[in-house]
Amino acid sequence: VTPKSLLNNPISLVSQEMSTLAKNIVALMGSGHPTLNRVTGYYFEAEGKKVRPMLVLLLSRALAEIPLTERNKIKVDYSDVPEDPVYSKPPQSLLFQHPARNISPLHILHGIKPLNPLTKGPEPLPEEFDKERGILPKQRRLAEIVEMIHTASLLHDDVIDYSDSRRGRASGNVAFTNKMAVLAGDFLLGRATVSISRLRNPEVVELVSNSIANLVEGEFMQLKNTAIDDDVTTISNGTQKIPPPSQKLMNTVHEYRVPVETSQLPQSIVATAFEYYLHKTYLKTAALISKSCRAAAILSGAQESVVDECYNFGKNLGICFQLVDDMLDFTVSAKELGKPAGADLQLGIATAPVLYAWKEDSSLGPLIQRNFSQPGDVERAAEAVATHDGVMKTRELAHEYRDRALANLRNALPDSDARSALEFLTNSILTRRK
Ligand code: FPP
Ligand code: MG
Ligand code: MG
Repeated sequence: VTPKSLLNNPISLVSQEMSTLAKNIVALMGSGHPTLNRVTGYYFEAEGKKVRPMLVLLLSRALAEIPLTERNKIKVDYSDVPEDPVYSKPPQSLLFQHPARNISPLHILHGIKPLNPLTKGPEPLPEEFDKERGILPKQRRLAEIVEMIHTASLLHDDVIDYSDSRRGRASGNVAFTNKMAVLAGDFLLGRATVSISRLRNPEVVELVSNSIANLVEGEFMQLKNTAIDDDVTTISNGTQKIPPPSQKLMNTVHEYRVPVETSQLPQSIVATAFEYYLHKTYLKTAALISKSCRAAAILSGAQESVVDECYNFGKNLGICFQLVDDMLDFTVSAKELGKPAGADLQLGIATAPVLYAWKEDSSLGPLIQRNFSQPGDVERAAEAVATHDGVMKTRELAHEYRDRALANLRNALPDSDARSALEFLTNSILTRRK
């Protein structure tokens, strides 16, 4: 019998796991540098939605409901990540000779306890596989990794987007400078990479690593020739402005050939606007989600067809998620979003609502081409979106992807509370306001 609390809030199924997750991530991020710790920890302090790790954990639980007779038992990985021989409990006497452990002699001199978590391991190894919850230890590690990669990308994204707020307060770049935000993102990625390698599963390592590359590809696809007032470099003899990127270079940015890896899309095309947009959306948002869903399924020893359905579930849900994100940019205030609203047009980026309006009003073409850079362009594009129901059409498209994601869930997983929770989460993406 499903408890009432679960029906009201199916996500509570993993609330215990989610609080352990937050603690483990904080532990994984510790460095010997207090300020670096502040910057890397900054986005974890404010409550984010944590959609990605929640998905990995719920999917892992739902996959555990598949009878072992229908899985490749040899591939069900009950082990946890190995303790790292270098980082585990270093003898105090060695600390001075090993600055690589991120513990500076100053810390020891002043008796400051190093924050490096790797000295004690992220979490005590479970005595026994937790049969009750069904989530495998490595699937928990995967959930942590995914949230770390996502947070790293947000730190970088806010620099790229000149964003001044996130999660209802100053963004990392504003609170700590661009340079620190970029370095903190890199550091997080570094630590995430350590965690990935410790999964000791080549297929999963490849998948998750590839998703990092995909994030960058997606972000590169939407690079715009925007104001470059931050591209200033200080050299010893003064301040030198780097000249704006040449138009010739910027024109090449949007040429794109679909790599073989994503062969679902026609190969060797210079993609048309909507295809280009959807593929960019897959890369920048859905790749991390879909590949982590696939990884969770692989760790559970699921059959290939189930692994594929899990991947497609993540892909469809990820695209739905970004379509809604692009829609909210037009409809919700900055106050409610906790980050800048109406940002995409300002940044010169044409998302689905504008592309739909363009279908009806070809005169928008030149505005899109020049990244809404002339006075009045942003306003005209916003009006066209309103006139031609760009937001409503985007919502309909998001619905289609939602339905596909729900079908994937039903194809892949037996009926269970965890699957219902996943369905609830999938549906709630369409009604979210931030
Ligand atoms: C948010 O999009 C940003 C992303 C989904 C990906 C950003 C990726 C990079 C900056 C590449 C570097 C990646 C790593 C792993 C360091 P958005 O700007 O549309 O959303 P927002 O409104 O939340 O800012
Ligand atoms: Mg952004
Ligand atoms: Mg961005």
